[in-house]
Amino acid sequence: MDAVVVYESLWGNTAAIARAIAAGLGPQTPVLTTDEATPDRLAHARLLVAGAPVHAMGLPSDTTRASATAKVYGAHPGLHADVSHPAMRAWLDTLPPAERLCAAFETGIRGPLGRGAARAIVARLTALGHEAIDEPQTFTVALVTGSSEPAALLLGGQEQKARAWGAHLAAASQARLPAP
Ligand SMILES: Cc1cc2nc3c(=O)[nH]c(=O)nc-3n(C[C@H](O)[C@H](O)[C@H](O)COP(=O)(O)O)c2cc1C
Repeated sequence: MDAVVVYESLWGNTAAIARAIAAGLGPQTPVLTTDEATPDRLAHARLLVAGAPVHAMGLPSDTTRASATAKVYGAHPGLHADVSHPAMRAWLDTLPPAERLCAAFETGIRGPLGRGAARAIVARLTALGHEAIDEPQTFTVALVTGSSEPAALLLGGQEQKARAWGAHLAAASQARLPAP
């Protein structure tokens, strides 16, 4: 299965989940930030898995990313939000239409009370011609921000859950689109 995982991540937790999903999808599955995921890197992908953190019950916006780099989180020495890659929301706005399979995930503290990030990603991808092959998935982080270690906030078992979901997506994709 030619799959690609694309993510936005400010502190590395969504990135760690993206890597675990890719490991479950299969060896050599590319894991790309939104700035690495150029149209040519996606050209041969038959499955796109995209993920982002939940911010304010939805996809991160310029406003939430700015607040993430500013006050509360900035108070912790060594803890810097990485906003060097574009927001998933902006990346989706530049994505050309494509007929490929897709799935989406998010990281958050307690899951969305609003639409969430993953549902917004799926809505945008299906509007562009993608076909969702599974329900959006949420991976949980702790409400503690005093660490700059990647994945430090993930609750126990989340990376294992992500890897298992990646394997499930690989099987579901093969069933839907047998290899040429
Ligand atoms: C500005 C801001 C708003 C947030 N809003 C929510 C929210 O509405 N619901 C939630 O569960 N988590 C919320 N969070 C927590 C993020 O989901 C958490 O920081 C993220 O999963 C960490 O992933 P990352 O390390 O990949 O950036 C918010 C975080 C920030 C910085």
